[in-house]
Amino acid sequence: MQVMHEDIDKILFTEDDLRARVSEMGHQITADHQGESLLVVSVLRGAAIFMADLVRNITLPLEMDYMAISSYGNGVKSSGIVRILKDLSSSVEGRHVLIAEDILDSGLTLSYLMRNLESRNPASIEVATLLRKKTRAQADIDCRYVGFECPDEFIVGYGLDYAERYRNLPYIGVLKKSVYC
Ligand code: PRP
Ligand code: MN
Ligand code: MG
Repeated sequence: MQVMHEDIDKILFTEDDLRARVSEMGHQITADHQGESLLVVSVLRGAAIFMADLVRNITLPLEMDYMAISSYGNGVKSSGIVRILKDLSSSVEGRHVLIAEDILDSGLTLSYLMRNLESRNPASIEVATLLRKKTRAQADIDCRYVGFECPDEFIVGYGLDYAERYRNLPYIGVLKKSVYC
């Protein structure tokens, strides 16, 4: 395994943990959707790496599309305002949509996205999130596929950033407080 980056306090999920769990999620999604084709929607930028690994473990016909939404900017807290920075290229109407997200925190991003996509008349809409923080605020979001529950700490790596950095770490770890305090 790679040496831990100096800005990381501790590793929560190693490269091996991630590979094993993402593979399980892909196989579960495949088993649950026999005979269907999927429109897999990744939420840029954080979910790009998860999406890339997830789809390689799904053996169904599928299309990949991307939407860019941002609520955090460069801060460590959600701004509370969700903005669409890039819309989908494909039509959602009549499709089985699977949203691939890296992390469900306050739930603001996903609840906005699901409302937005539901208004475009998909055949179905489901969520696969790699990580979910256990907080009361997002209790009402229905995630069919969850990779790991994670602690309420500021985490980075495997797509997750702080001020656009650390997305390329192959593991997920807790960022040292000294980096952002
Ligand atoms: C992060 C993360 C999720 C969202 C989760 O995205 O990738 O999309 O926040 O937080 P929430 O449940 O509180 O909405 P961010 O807005 O930082 O954009 P990014 O994906 O480009 O990093
Ligand atoms: Mn994101
Ligand atoms: Mg971010």
